Amino acid sequence: MAARTKNDDKKLFDTFYNTISLIGAFIAILTFALILFLMFMEWLSPRSVPYLGVLTYIVLPVFLIMGLVLIPIGMWREHRRRVRGLGKQVLPKLDLNDPKHRRSTVVFLGATAIFLFFTGLGTYRAYEFTDSVTFCGQICHKVMEPEYTTYQISPHARVKCVECHVGPGATWFVRSKLSGAYQVYATIFNTYDRPIPTPIRNLRPAQETCEQCHWPAKFYGNRQSLKIHYLNDEQNTRWKINLLVKIGGGTPESGYTSGIHWHMNIAHKIEYVALDEKRQIIPWVRMTDRDGNVKIFKSIENGFDDVALDTLEIRRMDCIDCHNRPSHQFKKPQIALNILLETGKIDPSLPYIKATAMEAVDAAAEAESLEEAFQIIESGIREFYAEDYPELLEQKGELIEQAIQEVKEMYRRNFFPEMRANWKAYPENIGHLTAPGCYRCHDGLHQTEEGEIIRNDCNACHLIIEQGDGKTVYQADLRGLEFKHPVDIEEAWKDTGCYECHGE
Ligand code: HEC
Ligand code: HEC
Ligand code: HEC
Ligand code: HEC
Ligand code: HEC
Ligand code: HEC
Repeated sequence: MAARTKNDDKKLFDTFYNTISLIGAFIAILTFALILFLMFMEWLSPRSVPYLGVLTYIVLPVFLIMGLVLIPIGMWREHRRRVRGLGKQVLPKLDLNDPKHRRSTVVFLGATAIFLFFTGLGTYRAYEFTDSVTFCGQICHKVMEPEYTTYQISPHARVKCVECHVGPGATWFVRSKLSGAYQVYATIFNTYDRPIPTPIRNLRPAQETCEQCHWPAKFYGNRQSLKIHYLNDEQNTRWKINLLVKIGGGTPESGYTSGIHWHMNIAHKIEYVALDEKRQIIPWVRMTDRDGNVKIFKSIENGFDDVALDTLEIRRMDCIDCHNRPSHQFKKPQIALNILLETGKIDPSLPYIKATAMEAVDAAAEAESLEEAFQIIESGIREFYAEDYPELLEQKGELIEQAIQEVKEMYRRNFFPEMRANWKAYPENIGHLTAPGCYRCHDGLHQTEEGEIIRNDCNACHLIIEQGDGKTVYQADLRGLEFKHPVDIEEAWKDTGCYECHGE
């Protein structure tokens, strides 16, 4: 020890031996070891573990830096002490020849090792937890309730939230985590938006999430899409529409090519600009085909001015532009009720049950709370039967009661009054019945200078192979049928988009 005081350099280093610097060094070494351990775990892990990165690259480095900062602070204080002539801080001496010291050292080292082990394990478990569906869907229950509820009944109920929302790799979780940190703040201080605005700005590009599991080169063929509707009349007439959707895909290298996915994602690059936040009004579309030929389609309806292009984002179309609701589908009651009637949860022999239920749900659409909505639904349906079918209320009271329960349950899955989330707040872009969807571009009004339009004949995307109620109307043809509207609206469907009557 005496040797050290001989020259100034060593004196400086000597000041390291003080409590604050030693604690700083201990923290720094501990966190550094943990960081290495987690990096190793991440490297070993067969699956991507998105949230681990938050810990490894954001939380722990903060502690590492804190530890490192403590070292010079302690040294500076020690230096000041000495300048003021207070002499060295005396540190406890360790003498391994002393059995007492030896025992304490062993105990200390052993305890540290155990502590390190469990900290490592604990950190890993904590990180696994933040990665889980429980964390994303249930911790901030009220905020995520609409998405969590709809997720559980979606085709992706077994896909973790983070696999679509964060994805693997460091940069995206840093980006989504920074916005995540803001969301935690917004939740605690109750400043979040209701409903949560979409499209999500910092959602990872679909190529890196959806395409981990589905890739457009895979051949999809045609997909049968059977729609059963119950109409608004006394008999709740069952009306069937059987579609063959030309979803297609593929690459010439791997087999057949055809259909929606081939045209949209592989043969063509399609870019567009939208005038609104929700990307529902699209006045300008640019298509570049595989050979590099470019076509620009402009909507003759919006009278779009090219000058505005400089100020708007040109977005390349990807999966999310059509599949914006792969996991969180808020159904229009008209459609959701069809399923309940078809599966017998609501008895279709009850006169006017479809129309009555729809009216009751519409009346409850703006309710402030679930309880209020339930009350409106319950009294709406019950009062209708009490007034128009009093004898039925006695004979089939139980069926009516069951219908009321099912309608409430349907409401609970599709309307979230507190978050103001429902089918109107989150339009679905697949199809064109309840929202413009494909018709944002395929409305027959988007033209090139030469007058070429984006295809919009009814057979471009699907064939109707069967339709009707099976009694007065029934048509079937594998070559495709002309659409017949279930109720008489004359030819209105030919020049009016379906969504203009069926949408919001
Ligand atoms: C199959 C992929 C997928 C899974 C799994 C998934 N989401 Fe989503 N989520 C999306 C897409 C796509 C959007 C809409 C993005 C857009 O429109 O910009 C979205 C939107 C959201 C929104 C914004 C509000 C809304 O409804 O658009 C929230 C909140 C959300 N998801 C939470 C969750 C939670 C919580 C889970 C897990 C319980 C989850 N998500 C699972 C794909 C997914
Ligand atoms: C971790 C894997 C995984 C990811 C990531 C994923 N999916 Fe899926 N997806 C699946 C599985 C598995 C199914 C099949 C579910 C079934 O058949 O019941 C499926 C089904 C689908 C379907 C068919 C739904 C239906 O009604 O039958 C669509 C459309 C779809 N996914 C779109 C997407 C989109 C868009 C994304 C990105 C936002 C995405 N998926 C991300 C695994 C995934
Ligand atoms: C131009 C709009 C559009 C784009 C872009 C698009 N899809 Fe689709 N996709 C559809 C339509 C329409 C269907 C049929 C849906 C139905 O019938 O319910 C479909 C169906 C699917 C299915 C279900 C296939 C099956 O066999 O049932 C999957 C999976 C899918 N898409 C994945 C993707 C992925 C991944 C991407 C991005 C690479 C993508 N889609 C891009 C329109 C699109
Ligand atoms: C952003 C604009 C845009 C949207 C939204 C869009 N498309 Fe397209 N689509 C195009 C353009 C541009 C073309 C190429 C021009 C053409 O072939 O008419 C195209 C071509 C197609 C084709 C090939 C037509 C053919 O046989 O040549 C199909 C099928 C198709 N789209 C289906 C869909 C479906 C289904 C949806 C909705 C789920 C949809 N598109 C939404 C812009 C769009
Ligand atoms: C750009 C592609 C495209 C064009 C053009 C198009 N459709 Fe569709 N249509 C779709 C898609 C996608 C769906 C949704 C399929 C699904 O949900 O499985 C759909 C759904 C439907 C349905 C079923 C609705 C339901 O839920 O019962 C009918 C009926 C229909 N279309 C009729 C028409 C008629 C009539 C025309 C011509 C006026 C037309 N479509 C033009 C893409 C298109
Ligand atoms: C001029 C307005 C109008 C247009 C345009 C229109 N519909 Fe309808 N549609 C109605 C009315 C009114 C009803 C009966 C009341 C109801 O069910 O909402 C109806 C009912 C239906 C139903 C039965 C719905 C149920 O209760 O399950 C289907 C399916 C349907 N329409 C499909 C379409 C399709 C597909 C298109 C576009 C090709 C279209 N409609 C265009 C007005 C319209």
